[in-house]
Amino acid sequence: MFLRNLWYFALSGAQLKPGAMTRKIMLDEPLLIARDADGIPFALRDICPHRGIPLTDGNFDGREVECCYHGWRFNREGCCTEIPSLVADQKLNLDRIRTQSYPCREVQGNIWVFFGDGDENENPPPVLPGIGDRAPGMSESILFPSPIDHAVVGLMDPAHGPYVHRSWWWRSKRSIHEKSKKFGPTPLGFAMLRHPPSSNSAAYKLLGGEMTTEIRFQLPGVRIEHIEAGAHVVCGLTAVTPLTEGETEINHIIYWTQPWLTPLKPLLRPFIRMFLEQDRDVVIKQQEGLRYDPNLMLINDADVQAKWYYQLKRNWEKAQQDGTAFDNPVTARELRWRS
Ligand code: FES
Ligand SMILES: [Fe+2]
Repeated sequence: MFLRNLWYFALSGAQLKPGAMTRKIMLDEPLLIARDADGIPFALRDICPHRGIPLTDGNFDGREVECCYHGWRFNREGCCTEIPSLVADQKLNLDRIRTQSYPCREVQGNIWVFFGDGDENENPPPVLPGIGDRAPGMSESILFPSPIDHAVVGLMDPAHGPYVHRSWWWRSKRSIHEKSKKFGPTPLGFAMLRHPPSSNSAAYKLLGGEMTTEIRFQLPGVRIEHIEAGAHVVCGLTAVTPLTEGETEINHIIYWTQPWLTPLKPLLRPFIRMFLEQDRDVVIKQQEGLRYDPNLMLINDADVQAKWYYQLKRNWEKAQQDGTAFDNPVTARELRWRS
């Protein structure tokens, strides 16, 4: 149901202080995500192997998690280290008692978790170019009550802007014009190659300087928009994480190198929020129709990126099943549409 052997965005690192733990369902699996006293994050299956109670109902002291039911203790590798009910001559091999641990990594202020039993180093979590290891300038999270595919397809859809995101300062129906963009394959997806941004995006003009943008998509559902404005960089990461079959979380994180943008954060945030809510609201409406399982269409060229997404998924699944190399179906080409 969900693509395996990939890293998924879990949460922004700022949400997890040292010594804190949180619970989160990801890919229909219950997770405990914690940051130890040294600041290193880790992730465990949030189920006590004794009687199945969530470990997050217990306590975390910055080193070990203690189950709330009988006090069994677990380290960050998920191994049981102590069973308080044992008396001195009762020998039980604790090494074999464990809850699953997941590879977990913090990259540029975000925590990612790897799902699968393959090699987590083969395709590490994405690193955004040009922003070093600075913390995110802004993070927003929103829940879409839909399966991951419609969230991803909605995100990469170039034709909905003037309708869903219509506003006097961004797009209007009158601003629609023909566009033509070059695309090419990347290791786990594709890129809209670097180009000057659309002249009908008034908001871009605020950044000033010579401007170009590149937009990348990669499995399982990561979009990276990299804007160069003069000597500066604005970079947006949109990560789509399936929580369950019917719920998908979108995390939108923005980084920038322009110091003057930072004090504008309180002004920018409502606009980002509005965009995400517009995308969510249209997906909610869509779910109404999808209840009746209609046949859907993907048209040329506006939906070619969505076609690529489904092909990438199929090829990824096939490679995992057969144990063969992933064959990227995307070839370099130009796409044209009106938006
Ligand atoms: S259920 Fe966790 S220690 Fe018993
Ligand atoms: Fe959108």
